[in-house]
Amino acid sequence: MKFSQLVAPTLREDPAEAEIVSHKLLLRAGFIRKLATGVYTYLPLGLKVLNNVTRVVREEMDRAGAQEIFMPVLQPAELWQETGRWKQYGKELFRIKDRHERDFCLGPTHEEVITDLVKNSINSYRSLPVTLYQIQTKFRDEIRPRFGLMRGREFMMKDAYSFHPNEADLDREYQNMHQTYCRIFERLGLKFRVVEAAAGLIGGGYSQEFMVLAETGEDEIFCCQACDYAASRELLEANVCPKCGSSKYELIRGIEVGHIFKLGTKYSSKMKCVYVDENNQEQPMVMGCYGIGVARTAQAAIEQNHDKDGIIWPMPLAPYKIAVVPVNIEETEQREVAEKLYRAMSGEGGGVSVLFDDRDKRIGAKLKDIDLIGIPIKVIVGPKGLKEGKVEVKWRRDGKTELVAKEKVVEWLAQSL
Ligand SMILES: Nc1ncnc2c1ncn2[C@@H]1O[C@H](COP(=O)(O)OP(=O)(O)OP(=O)(O)O)[C@@H](O)[C@H]1O
Ligand SMILES: [Mg+2]
Ligand SMILES: [Zn+2]
Repeated sequence: MKFSQLVAPTLREDPAEAEIVSHKLLLRAGFIRKLATGVYTYLPLGLKVLNNVTRVVREEMDRAGAQEIFMPVLQPAELWQETGRWKQYGKELFRIKDRHERDFCLGPTHEEVITDLVKNSINSYRSLPVTLYQIQTKFRDEIRPRFGLMRGREFMMKDAYSFHPNEADLDREYQNMHQTYCRIFERLGLKFRVVEAAAGLIGGGYSQEFMVLAETGEDEIFCCQACDYAASRELLEANVCPKCGSSKYELIRGIEVGHIFKLGTKYSSKMKCVYVDENNQEQPMVMGCYGIGVARTAQAAIEQNHDKDGIIWPMPLAPYKIAVVPVNIEETEQREVAEKLYRAMSGEGGGVSVLFDDRDKRIGAKLKDIDLIGIPIKVIVGPKGLKEGKVEVKWRRDGKTELVAKEKVVEWLAQSL
């Protein structure tokens, strides 16, 4: 991609609407723009990051044996009345009427829809267990939409649902999802903690939250100092650790990026989602559900990875991994060397994603924009280096620089990526 053509409107000043650094940086670096409260457009850079999260999520969910589907956003009220959540959900549910005055809602979550689907598609123990997931837009009319993508009213979620013949099989899949979530957040380069949580409106039995550690997080995490127990604040009625009885704990803050639940038969019994077992007896299916806030995860990564100059993307999330920057685009040799490197790195069949800074701007201003955007590696093509046939490779995270022969740099970078 040529920088001169990239739609990434950067802002010089901190936007007034943003309170936390990750939100400020997403706006300032031109990743997102607000349409209405809690409703955002993803600009090209923002969408690339979002797609990087969903790619890792897809790979790991598929590897774990889950199958991807895509359910409707528009959901008939009847399903929600069956489970009683049409009343319970209150104002957070976006409700609408069609032209025949029939009630619908925009899905804040999909337990009702998936339970209805499985009820009508699976009847026998032979077809169980099954885990289905989707990556899709959710709608919640939050009381306090804020912090940009962290708490939106329209936001991207990966939600998965599993169906089992019994509790033991649910426990097995719950552990499988637990490990899958750990792999996803590790691959994305995040520091996180798994904590025991209250189940809230989705409900059922046991649940755990995946918390990205950050000072600005909305959630408080109780960490026992005597053992490895951690829980969300709302779960702890008495101020003692339920695992070891200790009352010494530390409170840290986090951002909830994932939530896994054992639902049991909460939905299947109300909606009569049953199967026939080996003895020809009808049994309710035992369910689990597993969510990841895709956009919240991307923004949480910024909260953990930034400095005074801008974002420092972990490599798997970076919208472009490398920026090729000629010091002066008007100088023929610099331009030609830079262009050649750009083409070689981008490669015919994909290669890595590279941004070519072809703008006619001062080098200082160009580097500033690239640092704000958070591109992990800069390849700077300047007159001094070229005299010795070299270009400068500079890492965003630690500022480390190396001079590398211009003929070798493509292969050299391919190896170090
Ligand atoms: N309003 C929102 N904006 C962006 N992401 C969200 C929002 N609400 C939830 N998520 C993400 O979706 C995931 C699964 O949804 P879940 O229903 O478990 O969230 P939740 O418990 O309501 O979250 P919270 O307590 O932050 O409201 C959450 O772990 C979170 O990462
Ligand atoms: Mg919520
Ligand atoms: Zn303890």
